Amino acid sequence: MSMSFQGLTLCVKTFGCQMNKHDSERVLGTLEALGATPVDSFEEADMVVFLTCCVREAADTRLYGQVATMRTLPLRPDSPLAKRLIAIGGCIGQRDGRKLVDAMPHVDVVFGTHNLHALPSLLQAALDTGSSQVEVRDASASFPTDLPTDREQPWAAWLPITIGCNNFCSYCIVPYVRGREKSRPLEDIVSEAEGYVAEGVKEITLLGQNVNSYGRDLYGSPRFVDVLDAVAHTGIERIRFATSHPKDLSDEVIERFATLPSLMPALHLPVQSGSDRILKAMNRRYDAARYLDLVRKLREAKGDIALSTDIIVGFPGETEEDFMDTYRLVEAVGYHQVFTFIYSKREGTPAASMPDDTPREVIQGRFDRLVELVQRQAFEANQTERGRVVPVLVEGASKRDSSLLSGRSPKNQTVHAPVPAGCSAADLQGRIVDVRIDDAKTWYLQGSLA
Ligand code: 5AD
Ligand code: SF4
Repeated sequence: MSMSFQGLTLCVKTFGCQMNKHDSERVLGTLEALGATPVDSFEEADMVVFLTCCVREAADTRLYGQVATMRTLPLRPDSPLAKRLIAIGGCIGQRDGRKLVDAMPHVDVVFGTHNLHALPSLLQAALDTGSSQVEVRDASASFPTDLPTDREQPWAAWLPITIGCNNFCSYCIVPYVRGREKSRPLEDIVSEAEGYVAEGVKEITLLGQNVNSYGRDLYGSPRFVDVLDAVAHTGIERIRFATSHPKDLSDEVIERFATLPSLMPALHLPVQSGSDRILKAMNRRYDAARYLDLVRKLREAKGDIALSTDIIVGFPGETEEDFMDTYRLVEAVGYHQVFTFIYSKREGTPAASMPDDTPREVIQGRFDRLVELVQRQAFEANQTERGRVVPVLVEGASKRDSSLLSGRSPKNQTVHAPVPAGCSAADLQGRIVDVRIDDAKTWYLQGSLA
């Protein structure tokens, strides 16, 4: 089949995690290479590709809602198509497959989390035949990353090192839709990283549902720490990684925060709950004491490492006492950022059949108290930056005020500073500049170029 999307416009809409954002860069890169032109809105788009998430119900509902509205959205006047092409991929594509087309017959293509490669041919077949194409396969042997990418930011790259997850946390649907964990060969990771360095990329984020268990399916070797060392060896300026499961965070990896200058002093370490009883019911396989011990070791290695976490409020059977354990753990750690989620029941997971009788208002009340604490602590954590000079990777002009540039500190804080005279934010994009911090808010730091 010859494939061309010349003359067609394309909009990719992403829901959910970084893995989906990364997949959407691959989709854009692949379809642009075949002639498609990216556009920002559904209205302008001849083809819309949704990369979906089903971790929580809200994203699920939004996807179905948005796809439903596509049915009545007119095509742009000069579109060569008679009907807008709609493709759904990612976790919902994988989970629901043909059911999506049954529920919404105007959907043209459904593809799974392991079928990114097949998208162009599925779209072409839908164009040629006018009938819906569904391809949802079980985890494939190949690692679907040898596709071109169109990166949102040319100076920062996401680099998947594992896909899938073996952990089966009792609330989580990911292992069912993303399949078992597969590690990408170290040589592939290194050659992709080398390619980025050669292109002038400044920051690489190693990605996986649980990067810490990298290599377990490769006869136990190499391990994640070897990936870190090898990627650092390419000479990339900044390395980050996400996500880490606390049960698999090794002492060697912790030590790298002290010894690898390119490993940024920030770590996302989801705790989910501070109650040992709930952690057990979640099948997390650590307790609060062990988590706090990791925090201690991390801070011993790197004094002011910025920690962030995920917390689920209202897991089935969570009592006020369980919640207070979480609250106190958050208080004790002092996170830079906490992503708080209200528990969302996902059919097919073990937690979905656990007794769950906490009233919604009680859960909302706990959530609000936690958010209040988190905001206060984020504000406090940022105050220590006042007066410091921090190297900031410039992302461009601030969205709210174009006279300011916006970028990221090593701790991944957003930093704003006035664009210096005689220069534009665009000139500085992708460069690392020193900023003297003179003000610190909850969600960003403010300063001026040093
Ligand atoms: N309900 C609420 N939050 C969830 N997460 C995963 N599954 C659920 C669920 N069923 C959260 C976890 C995870 C983050 C990506 O999403 O906190 O770390
Ligand atoms: Fe879900 Fe747990 Fe795997 Fe994370 S580690 S993707 S929460 S099962």
